[in-house]
Amino acid sequence: MKTLAHLLQRNQEWAREQLRRDPQFFSRLTQLQQPEYLWIGCSDSRVPANQIVSLPPGEVFVHRNIANVVVHTDMNCLSVLQYAVEVLQVKHIIVCGHYGCGGVKAAMDGQDHGQIDNWLRHIQDVARLHQDELFHIEDERARIDRLCELNVLEQVRNVCNTTVVKKAWKAGAELSVHSWIYGIANGILQDLGACISSLEQLEEMGWRSGRFELD
Ligand code: CO
Repeated sequence: MKTLAHLLQRNQEWAREQLRRDPQFFSRLTQLQQPEYLWIGCSDSRVPANQIVSLPPGEVFVHRNIANVVVHTDMNCLSVLQYAVEVLQVKHIIVCGHYGCGGVKAAMDGQDHGQIDNWLRHIQDVARLHQDELFHIEDERARIDRLCELNVLEQVRNVCNTTVVKKAWKAGAELSVHSWIYGIANGILQDLGACISSLEQLEEMGWRSGRFELD
C-alpha cells in the first residue's frame, strides 16, 4: 500500500499554522460557507483559484475543468452555478482562462488525443466562430493566446445565458459575471473587460441567446 505520507504531513503542518494564526479559523468555517465569488477556471495545476487571488478557504466557490468551458447541458457545471447563485448567493462569477492553455492548444493542433477530443470540440466551435480574426494572426503562440481570450468571452456569454443566471437577474439579484485571464509566465490576472451585471447589459452586448436582429 502506498500512502502519500508527505502530503498528510504537510496538511498537519498547514492546519497547525492556521490555528496558530487564528484559533477560531476552523470552528468558524464549520458554521457555514459564505463565499462572494464563484470561480470557473481551468484544471491546470498552475492556476489554483484561491492562491492566485490570495483568498483563504471559505472565500471562493470553485468549478474547474479543462479549458474552463461552460457547456449549456453540463449538469456538473450547471449544478455548481445553481448552488452558487441560489443558495450561496455569490455576487460575482469569475470565468478565468489562462494563456498557453494546454486544452486550447490541443484543440487546435490537428492531432488525435482520444476521449478528450470530444470535450475540446467546444473550443473548436469557439475558434470557428472567430476564424476570420484568428486566421490573420500568423504567430501560432499569439493565435492560441487570442483563442484563450476569446474562449473566456464565449464562456462568459454561456454563463450569462444559463437559466440560473437569467432567473437571478430577473429576480433583481446583484450578480456580475467577469472575464479574466491569467498569465502563467508572470502570475498576473487581467480583466478582459466584459463584465455583465444584468439582462439589459447582456442585451446591449448583443450576447443574449435566442434574440436575432434581422436587417
Ligand atoms: Co488550461
